[in-house]
Amino acid sequence: MTTMSAVHRAATLYGTPAYVYDLAEVRRAHRELTALLPERSLLYYSVKANPHPAVCAELARLGCGAEVSSAGEVQTCIAAGFPAGRCLFTGPGKTPAEISLAIQHGIQDFSVESPTDLRRVAAVAATAGVRLRCLLRVNVDTPLPGMGLTMTGVASQFGTDTRQVLDNPGDFVGDDYAQVTGLHLFMGSNAADEDVLVRQFDAALRSVAELESALDRPLLFIDLGGGFAAPYARPGDRPGYAGLRERLAGLLAGRLPPARQPRQVAFESGRYLVGGSGTLVARVLDVKHSKDSTFVVLDSGINHLGGMAGLRRVPPARVRPLAGRPHDAPPDGEIPDCYFVGPLCTPLDTWARGITAPRLRSGDLVAVPNVGSYGLTASLLAFLSRPAPVEVVIDGSEIRTADRLTFTRRPEHPSAAHPGPLGHRTASLADSGERHA
Ligand SMILES: Cc1ncc(COP(=O)(O)O)c(C=O)c1O
Repeated sequence: MTTMSAVHRAATLYGTPAYVYDLAEVRRAHRELTALLPERSLLYYSVKANPHPAVCAELARLGCGAEVSSAGEVQTCIAAGFPAGRCLFTGPGKTPAEISLAIQHGIQDFSVESPTDLRRVAAVAATAGVRLRCLLRVNVDTPLPGMGLTMTGVASQFGTDTRQVLDNPGDFVGDDYAQVTGLHLFMGSNAADEDVLVRQFDAALRSVAELESALDRPLLFIDLGGGFAAPYARPGDRPGYAGLRERLAGLLAGRLPPARQPRQVAFESGRYLVGGSGTLVARVLDVKHSKDSTFVVLDSGINHLGGMAGLRRVPPARVRPLAGRPHDAPPDGEIPDCYFVGPLCTPLDTWARGITAPRLRSGDLVAVPNVGSYGLTASLLAFLSRPAPVEVVIDGSEIRTADRLTFTRRPEHPSAAHPGPLGHRTASLADSGERHA
């Protein structure tokens, strides 16, 4: 566990608001997750969870691959030291420019989400003269209740429904430049219940034989996704999934059809690997009373945490005083009906509503635990033009680096000189002559 004295020292040295990421905690989570997965499986780190270069570099050193979904994430993961051969480009809306950049960096594995996506990847690969391996992202037909965030078994922008693949297999095989050689079966996120996780892996593995026979080719690369849970903005540890390793091994042995060559099995995780590594430290700027409620105004709000949840659904963060209060004063009781609010000019800038909280004073530091994933870059960073918080990387009790994201406005050129994202002067798919799935 990250020690609060190290977090306090980082925030005192660099000021607030401060995200503090502990690499020791990243290693601990990685050790725990790999102990749950079958031997020889590949674990992709989902860079979207936290693209901080030091966090990415630690996971690259530990042997993870990277699951990336944009040009920026490609650059981040390559700079962090992930080998291109262990990177998977995913996402429902890839542009030719992004595909081309990934190829230039040596990435060869792409998840493809539709016939249009497959054709687009193939066209860029043909221009570059490279052969890519494509994993067809499939949306299985069975609903899988119990995931924190469901991305399959329901109508979804992700992947292609199994039914569509079975009905038109010819649209999903690819060509010499982009061949479908595997499946991508990411089904959802944040499943704390082991039975739910096992049910989704079971559903995923059941579809392999069916799709292999429809596509009439061996599918040797099976990305089973993940869904491994982690607490967000509240205290607690990751689920232990005590029986998962054995149950997964049983499923793989029982459900994966025999193949002539060994199959590569992969998993993906963002929040489980890095959620526990991050703490956000904020300072109390004001404590105000209105009617019967108390408002603790902080120097950080939904511009730094909680945007991912969507406005009006910001999770109630558990804000607690950080040890070593500036006044060294003992806590002086609790306040009922307390609101933790940020500095933004909207009532939505609220991390917690109507809770009982320790009595705080202007100048106190507070900490929000377990925000190493979907924290800063999943927030409303630019709203109200406040600076981003400092991001301090520690390793146990040692401070390693500190830096800050900045925004820069730069002139843009007209689209005639700068083709749109689809490589056409107009970005309209309808005008581009591409066939729709
Ligand atoms: C395709 C894909 N893989 C992996 C992840 C990471 O999920 P998590 O952080 O819950 O592990 C996501 C999250 O949205 C995703 O869409």
